[in-house]
Amino acid sequence: MRIDIITVLPELLKSPFEASILKRAIEANLVEVHFHNLRDYTTDNYKTIDDYQFGGGAGMVMLVEPIDKCITKLKAEREYDDIIYMTPDGETLKQGLANTLSLSENIIILCGHYKGVDQRVRDLFITKEISIGDYVLSGGELGAAVLCDSIIRLIPGVLGNETSALTDSFQDNLLAPPIYTRPREYKGLKVPEILFSGNFPEIEKWRENQAFEHTKERRPDLLED
Ligand code: ADE
Repeated sequence: MRIDIITVLPELLKSPFEASILKRAIEANLVEVHFHNLRDYTTDNYKTIDDYQFGGGAGMVMLVEPIDKCITKLKAEREYDDIIYMTPDGETLKQGLANTLSLSENIIILCGHYKGVDQRVRDLFITKEISIGDYVLSGGELGAAVLCDSIIRLIPGVLGNETSALTDSFQDNLLAPPIYTRPREYKGLKVPEILFSGNFPEIEKWRENQAFEHTKERRPDLLED
């Protein structure tokens, strides 16, 4: 998989890809992540990427032209499954969307700034608009990092144990059950006996039941879908 990220602040985005699982995935060639600085696609001496809104109103608008140049160059080099715009008015990111996107060959992610991009960017190029939640960030970069993390960890081979992504919270619309490791007892709190029984079908049943009860208590909305 290849991810091209278009941003005015590449330095804000890079560190999540230089540590831990994402770094290993890149080093193992399971994913390529490329950053494109929008200012490299400007044509004036000031490297202008935004301007005032037509019709008045507070906040600057990102210009269509540098974004067009960058996207057009990338599209000439390969085909993209999706060109995604990070925006608070997009579809809310859920596990199912991450699952779908993890099957992509190539995607572009465009990070918005200021008030956002000229509507014609959305009309001409964008195939999916994604929000990471109902709050407003100062730019799309942190959202793009969240989206990339949620996608990349699903690519086969990225997680050590292939099954571990499948047992994440949300994969079956349930939150994950509680998990334990050593010691068997800590400050009076004991690990449930069933986990030492060696009876794996029973352990699996217990986990399913715990996941269900946990979801019913914390996120009953997940059980309604
Ligand atoms: N840009 C600003 N706020 C955002 C959000 N909630 N999700 C994605 N991109 C954003």
